[in-house]
Amino acid sequence: MAENSYRQRKTEMESAAEASKELKRKKRMKLLAYALAFAIFQIIVILVFSLTVMRIKNPKFRVRSITVEDLKVAAPNPPSFNIKLNAQVAIKNTNFGHFKFENTTISFDYGGVRVGDAFVAKGRSKARSTKKMNITVEMNSNNIPNNSSLQNEIESGFLTLTCHSKLSGKVQLMKLIKKKKSAEIECTMLINLETKAVQDIKCQ
Ligand SMILES: *[C@@H]1O[C@H](CO)[C@@H](O)[C@H](O)[C@H]1NC(C)=O
Ligand SMILES: *[C@@H]1O[C@H](CO)[C@@H](O)[C@H](O)[C@H]1NC(C)=O
Ligand SMILES: *[C@@H]1O[C@H](CO)[C@@H](O)[C@H](O)[C@H]1NC(C)=O
Ligand SMILES: *[C@@H]1O[C@H](CO)[C@@H](O)[C@H](O)[C@H]1NC(C)=O
Repeated sequence: MAENSYRQRKTEMESAAEASKELKRKKRMKLLAYALAFAIFQIIVILVFSLTVMRIKNPKFRVRSITVEDLKVAAPNPPSFNIKLNAQVAIKNTNFGHFKFENTTISFDYGGVRVGDAFVAKGRSKARSTKKMNITVEMNSNNIPNNSSLQNEIESGFLTLTCHSKLSGKVQLMKLIKKKKSAEIECTMLINLETKAVQDIKCQ
């Protein structure tokens, strides 16, 4: 009788120990699963962070609008022009840090010959924002050789101009990372000599 109950108690105790072991095992598995989930979560966070915030892209330099402030043309013999343009340019910075840029000029050409320059003073475009600037350029035909197509263009009523510029600077992230970046403008435009409007501005 006593023997029997002892045995029974022993098996009860054994099964209780087994159950507690099983419980501990389950707990360990659960902890492991949590740790794994956390690690995966962290990897995703780091991945997203490095693909968005930490990825430094070139800012974009754009011409938003150009208007004629003053225009004088003469033709023929010799054909000539004096034109003053106002332009609004924009520097779009999509980075999570500011873009600090150096002085630059926007050069205006007629038939491959430089006819005027616009100065863009150094400055900064804030993180994830667009900095707009107004520039003025005075152009004249003094350097254009007399064998150019200027005479024909003035007679046709449209003048084809191009402008180009390169903006160089640095994008700074969290006061730690600095990376050299640049942006370029290259546009062609038609100046309507009759209406004194700038039309067909095409940039690449
Ligand atoms: C940038 O232009 C300013 C004039 O607006 C001049 O004082 C300065 O020296 C120029 N900086 C460089 C690096 O050329
Ligand atoms: C640029 O000029 C336009 C009008 O031509 C004006 O509305 C704007 O405020 C000017 N922007 C700056 C930054 O001077
Ligand atoms: C063009 O300019 C040159 C000097 O720069 C002059 O010798 C020539 O006669 C001019 N030609 C015409 C068609 O005006
Ligand atoms: C004009 O003349 C120069 C040489 O004086 C030559 O290099 C250039 O190609 C000529 N341009 C045109 C459009 O004929």
